[in-house]
Amino acid sequence: MQILDGNKLSKKIREEIKQEVDAILDADKRAPHLAAVLVGEDPASQSYVRNKIKDCEAVGFKSTLHRLSSDISEEELLDLIEKLNTEKDLDGFIVQLPLPKHIDQERVTMAINPDRDVDGFHPTNFGKMALDMDAFLPATPAGIMEMLERYNIDTKGKHCVIIGRSHIVGRPMSILMGRKTTPGNSTVTLCHSATPHVEEFTKEADIIITALGVPNFLKEEMVKEGAVVIDVGISRVEDDSTKKGYKLVGDVDYENVKDKTSYITPVPGGVGPMTRSMLLKNTLLSYKRNK
Ligand code: GUN
Repeated sequence: MQILDGNKLSKKIREEIKQEVDAILDADKRAPHLAAVLVGEDPASQSYVRNKIKDCEAVGFKSTLHRLSSDISEEELLDLIEKLNTEKDLDGFIVQLPLPKHIDQERVTMAINPDRDVDGFHPTNFGKMALDMDAFLPATPAGIMEMLERYNIDTKGKHCVIIGRSHIVGRPMSILMGRKTTPGNSTVTLCHSATPHVEEFTKEADIIITALGVPNFLKEEMVKEGAVVIDVGISRVEDDSTKKGYKLVGDVDYENVKDKTSYITPVPGGVGPMTRSMLLKNTLLSYKRNK
């Protein structure tokens, strides 16, 4: 069994990005610039956005945070997006999700300029991805593909079972793994809440990607000997022995599953750090496209 170390790999990717930024700055050009829009006070969203800004600083990007009150109107948010769509010397921006209930998330996503949509959530980017065209890929699926590539994991002709069909993880993951690429080129099964016996599929899988958010869902008896297991789930469970009063756990019953696998991602320290690095990669890609 080999652990897929997202922290270590992500550090390497960030060093590569930083080197590129250093070369840009040495040539007296402006730094890549990412903006983030945060609406409301959701603690998880605040923490995610804080980390995204910190990541930008670490690689030498410029970053701008737009903090908006939770009672902002949809029109006001759309006005800001309109500004960010054309703002000079800005390469990309993200609107952190989820948004407050009175705001139509779909309308907001549709309003983002696809050329600045470094989250890869706009239908133009999603459609381009599905049609093998150049596109900003959503960060979590892109991070998993990068991990499979850099660990040289053979995916061609393998049976890949994905659990969860969310717009930002399971659905795009199923498209990327089925494309005629390396990694990719797998036979894909997408399981979801209406799949009656998920274990019938996972037991046959060479690669399992879980994106459910149900702690310890994937048990030892659901996994084939030698399978590759990628755990996207991240849930907080109460734990009085920790300073914060909780710990982070994935969808996989890690302690019991790990020895049966050929490769497995830990939680935390697996997919999460890769996701963060892919946002930086997309921003740099947008910067280069603008040149
Ligand atoms: N909410 C959870 N994940 C994400 C993400 O990758 N991007 C944005 N904008 N919101 C999120």
